[in-house]
Amino acid sequence: APVQVKKICCIGAGYVGGPTCAVIALKCPNIIVTIVDLNKARIDAWNSPDFALPIYEPGLVDVVKQARGRNLFFSTDVDKAIEEADLIFVSVNTPTKKSGVGAGFAADLNYVELATRRIATVASSNKIVVEKSTVPCRTAESMRTILEANSKPGCHFDILSNPEFLAEGTAIDDLFAPDRVLIGSLQTPEGISACESLAQVYSNWVPKERILTVGLWSSELSKLAANAMLAQRISSVNALSAICEATGANIDEVAHAIGYDSRIGPKFLRASVGFGGSCFQKDILNLVYLSESLHLPEVAAYWRQVVEMNEYQKRRFSKRVVDTLFNTITGKRIAVLGFAFKADTGDTRESAAITLIKDFQSEKAIVSVYDPQVPHDQIWQDLQEASPLVPLDTIKKQVSICNSAIEACKNAEAVVIATEWKEFKEIDWEEVYANMNKPAFVFDGRLLVDADKLRKIGFKVTTIGRPSNTD
Ligand code: UDX
Ligand code: UDX
Ligand code: ADP
Repeated sequence: APVQVKKICCIGAGYVGGPTCAVIALKCPNIIVTIVDLNKARIDAWNSPDFALPIYEPGLVDVVKQARGRNLFFSTDVDKAIEEADLIFVSVNTPTKKSGVGAGFAADLNYVELATRRIATVASSNKIVVEKSTVPCRTAESMRTILEANSKPGCHFDILSNPEFLAEGTAIDDLFAPDRVLIGSLQTPEGISACESLAQVYSNWVPKERILTVGLWSSELSKLAANAMLAQRISSVNALSAICEATGANIDEVAHAIGYDSRIGPKFLRASVGFGGSCFQKDILNLVYLSESLHLPEVAAYWRQVVEMNEYQKRRFSKRVVDTLFNTITGKRIAVLGFAFKADTGDTRESAAITLIKDFQSEKAIVSVYDPQVPHDQIWQDLQEASPLVPLDTIKKQVSICNSAIEACKNAEAVVIATEWKEFKEIDWEEVYANMNKPAFVFDGRLLVDADKLRKIGFKVTTIGRPSNTD
């Protein structure tokens, strides 16, 4: 019979491990869940008395408030949590490799390997080890090899793949009511039994028909495939947005029209200044690398184009800003509204705003940024990483960070909407207009504001996926 899981350990208290295992704890009061991390500051934040959690996610605080101290614990004692658990989620970071073989494409599996080795060293009883981080295909196989080669006698490990499909900003809703939970296992009696143990955990709140069980490699590939196809939709709609701008078609109308085809569907068709986030680019590059290692260059080129289209979209947008502002933005103040890679998150990984600001910096503009969630330190860090050769002091002469949208727009020539924060729709645009230099330009990279309304106030509005001369 499948093992009944009583104690869970989650290695990695980040964007994935934290919310996922907090929700498991909330929904499974009979299971003790301990989330561990080497990063003490992060664990301290998860444990903070006033719930100043290390990540911002709507609804997360409520979940942690209900479960923390009851059956949910955060700790830096990795070994103890491993030893006590029946089931261990490995939810550590898997960034793109910065050097060595596959640099810029392949995932850096160092963190996964170190965590796996730790499990092998510490465990003295049977464990189900679940790969939760997004990893290239066949990582589970490597984990299995490492565990088997280093395990104590009589200690058995089962490896599962259980990729997480939550999106940031809606993580808690996604976890409460997932489209599906995917569990991959070896198709052996032990593998299938381990798979059932994990399925039982989820069945505390997820309907049975939404828990899909497949082979290990299918599970690993499905995660990359889902993200690649989602990103491909955005690159497709963004490619169409370029045609719209050149022809007079309107991308909103086109997306609406094609989305009515039930085979296409209405979601995820919003043209933008480019997708960001920790997953899309990373996972596609992973898929490209995988295809190349499998000697499938045509397949690699196909997926690579999705990322190239995204780069093109960002470049195209900054060029449109410069073109519209009479071909120069030197010395002009540009207000950038939004720095997060999408609304309702404080996450900035691969955010299009970083690229835009860098472009504006190279055109010698003065930039004032405002984002309602991203900490100022994070913005400085990202801008520094984007221009490693420029001293931070020099960056700070060109860029300033503001505490409100109104403040950022003051004395600006142009406002650039980079993130679709709802509050940007609701700011007092009359006041913004009054305090800007004229002509006052708005560049909507997110199809967020009512262009006609802003034109009535006096703005010159440029919207992604619409021709420029619609005044
Ligand atoms: C994504 C997947 O959605 C999720 O299933 C997976 O687990 C992790 O990667 P996430 O990166 O958090 O989630 O956000 P998502 O909502 O997918 O947005 C990714 C990027 O695409 C954002 O920059 C967003 O602004 C952009 N986007 C999304 C668009 O430009 N247009 C759209 O229609 C949708
Ligand atoms: C298509 C569009 O579906 C239709 O809306 C448009 O008006 C005309 O073009 P059609 O060419 O008749 O219609 O057939 P469709 O069912 O779309 O199939 C096109 C091709 O794709 C076929 O060769 C079909 O076998 C193939 N296909 C379709 C797949 O290989 N896999 C699929 O999942 C679906
Ligand atoms: P993700 O978005 O995939 O959740 P994050 O970077 O937000 O990634 O979180 C991963 C976390 O995993 C980090 O907080 C990091 O400190 C932690 N981590 C990495 N390796 C280990 C390890 N061997 N043991 C414990 N925690 C680890």
